[in-house]
Amino acid sequence: MSQDKILLPGLIDVHVHLRDPGQTTKEDFISGTKAALAGGFTTIVDMPNNAQPITSLEKLEEKITIAKGKTLVELGFHFGSLGDNLDQFPGVSDLAIGLKLYLNKTTGGYLLDIEHLRKIYQAWPEDKVVLLHSEEDTIDLALESLRGLNRPVHICHMPSKEVLEKIIKAKRQGYNLTCGVTPHHLFLSELDTGRIGDHAKMLPSLKSERDQDYLWENFDQIDIVESDHAPHTLEDKVGGAFGVPGLETTLPLLLSAYKQGKISIEQIIDKCHTRPKEIFNLEPEDYLISIKMESYELDPSQFFSKAQWSPFAGMVVPGKVSQVTKSNQVIYSGGEFLINPGEGKVIYGK
Ligand code: DOR
Ligand code: ZN
Repeated sequence: MSQDKILLPGLIDVHVHLRDPGQTTKEDFISGTKAALAGGFTTIVDMPNNAQPITSLEKLEEKITIAKGKTLVELGFHFGSLGDNLDQFPGVSDLAIGLKLYLNKTTGGYLLDIEHLRKIYQAWPEDKVVLLHSEEDTIDLALESLRGLNRPVHICHMPSKEVLEKIIKAKRQGYNLTCGVTPHHLFLSELDTGRIGDHAKMLPSLKSERDQDYLWENFDQIDIVESDHAPHTLEDKVGGAFGVPGLETTLPLLLSAYKQGKISIEQIIDKCHTRPKEIFNLEPEDYLISIKMESYELDPSQFFSKAQWSPFAGMVVPGKVSQVTKSNQVIYSGGEFLINPGEGKVIYGK
């Protein structure tokens, strides 16, 4: 008999862009954390590339204050740096979960060179994670910058064989590295771009089928799955904005891989709960996610995210979150939220 219900611990996504404050027409902490909860993610960590970047204590405190009144889940924040705000680090390092640095072009524009990188590593607490956005053309520089250091570094959203191969090698050489992959790099390749059009635009971009296969073949070398939930209005998307919403599609997609025998439920728990918790030193409360295994078509008009579109629209997936409990109390059930905005909590770094 096939399993019709699956129970998981509250999932953790350490890579989301909730756009609040500054771009709340794209998303805000209420819509974004509702999307998280409905998608099975009870702990999420938001990136610093807001319209006004989160690169000062003042900006981070402002963001935390706004989030406290709106969040339905456990919500933490990564801090940002262009190398010119090292004086802010002592004040924010107890508040932020990690420090996000961009070695490649992103939404915003935060590029760094190796000298700045080294200075940043010296100033950021040695046991707190630095997250790097580093692609094919900068991964050598990223690894070079870490030579001889033992600080924990997480390489975000690996898109390709080239990047993952280099990371696996560096890990074997003893680098204190972890890495993540997004559902869109696992489930799409550049072959899908013609069919999906603007909705397939993201950074890092989609790569070849060979790259996609390599990510699956080496899934166990990848520490975590991160959605890179990057909501945009349809208008901005058609205007060329990079990024796709992911909080409400990540788990159904992983369940489809499970159904196809590509991955196990244990691997989903490992990459969406256990490893993110360990890597980012998180201590989530006791959440339980009930999944009803019943196939349906992904329909972005049903998303709680303000981004009512998806590159996965129309895809048939095998299951969805039916209920979420927190310490045995139901907080989400069948599309209804049984807690109010503000009843989640902001979480801090250690
Ligand atoms: O596709 C992306 N979207 N990649 C990024 O690096 C940033 C993100 C965003 O903020 O929209
Ligand atoms: Zn991102």
